[in-house]
Amino acid sequence: MSTLPPGPSGLPVAGSTLSFVRDPFSTYERWAEEYGDIVATNIAGRTFVMVAHPEHIERILVTDQQHYGKGSFQRDQLGDIVGDGLLLSEGEFWHEQRNRLQPEFFREQLTQYATMMVDETRARADNWTSGETITLNSELQHLTLAIMARTLFGFDIEDAEGQFANTARTISERFNLSHVSTYLAAWIPTPRNRRYRRAMNNLDTVIYDVIEARRAQDDSPNDLLATLIAAVDDPETDLTDETLRDEIATVILGGHDTAALAMTYTLTALARHPDAEAEVRAELDEVLGDDDPTVTDLPALPRLDAAVKEAMRLHPPAYTLFRESNRPMKIGEYDVPEGATLTIPQWVVHHDSRWFESPWEYQPDRWTDEFEASLPEYAYFPFCGGKRHCIGMRYGLMETKLVVATLLQRFRFDFQLPELSFAAALTLQPAEPVSVRVTTV
Ligand code: HEM
Repeated sequence: MSTLPPGPSGLPVAGSTLSFVRDPFSTYERWAEEYGDIVATNIAGRTFVMVAHPEHIERILVTDQQHYGKGSFQRDQLGDIVGDGLLLSEGEFWHEQRNRLQPEFFREQLTQYATMMVDETRARADNWTSGETITLNSELQHLTLAIMARTLFGFDIEDAEGQFANTARTISERFNLSHVSTYLAAWIPTPRNRRYRRAMNNLDTVIYDVIEARRAQDDSPNDLLATLIAAVDDPETDLTDETLRDEIATVILGGHDTAALAMTYTLTALARHPDAEAEVRAELDEVLGDDDPTVTDLPALPRLDAAVKEAMRLHPPAYTLFRESNRPMKIGEYDVPEGATLTIPQWVVHHDSRWFESPWEYQPDRWTDEFEASLPEYAYFPFCGGKRHCIGMRYGLMETKLVVATLLQRFRFDFQLPELSFAAALTLQPAEPVSVRVTTV
């Protein structure tokens, strides 16, 4: 006899929809408290199974990964945006594309990007005047977009900034788990869907312009865009310009908003924890003095590393993963039907007191070698894990640390909101603009 996981019951359509849509974060937490590590529920007619124990998560992402695909829930939501790009593609096609793109994220390449990252950060910060209030999350989103455009696609974002303005946020909002329409098709003409359509059109225009300009260029830089264009132009492959568009959209959307959030949450956490901030500043003074940070400095900055790691624990930019079982599976003692949508919430696991003492406190000091050695593998997984782990993990971590270090060397950030609150969009968005006053140090 099959044993389904426990979970909240209710009318089949409304099911758990209302409470979840009202507040996905506390609903996830409540389910974990009431029903345990594996919880089944029905949201807008779809079976969701939340899995929140590191051992089960490891089975899904690593040991049994061949039985869990990216799934129809994610494809319905994101298929339009990222198409057959790396995030959603599967099987042999995914494997070949991953191998093709991976070298762009190797250590030697990253070293070349580091200087551009610091240069772009300085240029952005030069626009800030001491004493003014800025919207930190938007500033950092523009910055990471500019960094990505320059390092991976060799173009200057200023040419396209107008078209890009708010694109990522609009697209991320379309996925907001707190809106009933997220569970409905994107073609239904709600105002949010219309904004989303416009953002998508802008994104496509920019991407196709960039491809065209690069093809017309005589001496192309040796970057991710060059690698992708060479693959499409290679008669041995049957890749098309559409594949190219999908990979570019995937990298842009997967890579800049997440990194901007990691930076936002690190800087706001430090601004609210003066002791932790003082330790990071003292370390930067000692190791860097007035010099710009370089990639070789990073291993000498353990406090900065812990500050970022802890911010990504407390506020994981990708706050939940989704997978779909492609055959009936057993998770722990429960049966999970074929086609169930699994939700694997970093939000719950990173705040679980079984793994993290005082889980809601920002405590960078917890990240000692002994603590890390004692932590179950999948109690902390801001970049996912297994074969589908984030291809941009090293890039994103390096970028976050270089940007945070460069900004702290120049400014003090005074957080202007009473609290941070969050929206469960595609990524963990701040619910309100993050206003901070910047003062030159
Ligand atoms: C620093 C912040 C970042 C975070 C928190 C983050 C998080 C993640 C997570 C959780 C996944 C797995 C998604 C899933 O399996 O459903 C992922 C995948 C991915 N990320 Fe990131 N990411 C970050 C930065 C980046 C950067 C900088 C890039 C590109 C430059 C990038 C590109 C991608 C791509 C292409 C995938 C799909 C990989 C595949 O399935 O083969 N990410 N990321």
